[in-house]
Amino acid sequence: RNQKRRLECRPDIDSLTPSFLSIYNSLIPAEEEKAKQKRLILSLEKLVVKEWPDARLCLYGSCANSFGVSNCDIDVCLAIECDGTSKPEILTKLADILQSENLQNVQALTHARVPIVKLMDPSTGISCDICINNLLAVVNTKLLKDYAQIDGRLRQLAFIVKHWAKSRGVNETYRGTLSSYAYVLMCIHFLQQRRPAILPCLQEMEATYKVTVDEVECLYFDQVEKLKNFGAHNNESIGRLLWEFFDYWAYRHDYANAVISIRTGGFISKREKDWTRRIGNDRHLICIEDPFEVSHDLGRVVDKYSIKVLREEFERAADIMQYDPNPSVTL
Ligand code: GTP
Ligand code: MG
Repeated sequence: RNQKRRLECRPDIDSLTPSFLSIYNSLIPAEEEKAKQKRLILSLEKLVVKEWPDARLCLYGSCANSFGVSNCDIDVCLAIECDGTSKPEILTKLADILQSENLQNVQALTHARVPIVKLMDPSTGISCDICINNLLAVVNTKLLKDYAQIDGRLRQLAFIVKHWAKSRGVNETYRGTLSSYAYVLMCIHFLQQRRPAILPCLQEMEATYKVTVDEVECLYFDQVEKLKNFGAHNNESIGRLLWEFFDYWAYRHDYANAVISIRTGGFISKREKDWTRRIGNDRHLICIEDPFEVSHDLGRVVDKYSIKVLREEFERAADIMQYDPNPSVTL
């Protein structure tokens, strides 16, 4: 693989930026859509508190972390004191409540890895998944959103990478490829590694935000409005960053030994994490550390077949970025 490695980037790389930015602009959700989502959550919450007065609904995932494209499904977390009642029981009850209102396709998936209730709101056409007490996801949603506010290139890069991954079929965890969340972590890590750096490492800075959820301490610097100029010393264009991103994952990442970690702003060795061999279903063929659940490898879903698919897709993308006359279309 290293023989194929290129060192020189095409000379016209910066001129590709406008075509990528126009794709980015076409994917951004309208303000109106955000408002509709908020109204839906409020009306669902009204139904929920009738049954459980102290329960709350909050948004997480891409509709709240600023990496959501328009018309995406929304992820909702029901925060509730369970005292004795099991999650499947709560979800079944929740599904009954929602069913009796004007909501469609209500289904309780109580046996899923993350048990949820699915529904569709006919008045807005919005589909949503409601899970219970997935509070770590709410916190990692905030972390991603905070990173996105530091430098606009993160959101642009991640939108295009997610769009590429969805259109190439490599954003399907049930088929052994990576989640959207994993791709965003890869983008953050990549921008932390640029020289000069485009993003800082918020978890290595003075903690201004502190919460403990499910026994995990989540600490980081969240006053991101003070970091607006952080990336200003680096003027790399989106065209160039995409080229570098795909070149990195195609030809330069050390799959055998390295774990990427946005928590530390760098790399950790697989040996240090004891991620050197398969344990149960976790194979650790591409290692992406969760910023808070540090024992959690977001690459765990990748198996010996899908790693090949994934790496071939990175190589295809890198080659298109280098040689194709019109990469934003071909990608
Ligand atoms: P799209 O729906 O594809 O636009 O992206 P998304 O960010 O909403 O991804 P997804 O619906 O797969 O996941 C929703 C949220 O759940 C993510 O944004 C994360 O906050 C969280 N999440 C997803 N997978 C994991 C995981 O493996 N570990 C943890 N801790 N959180 C996860
Ligand atoms: Mg989602």
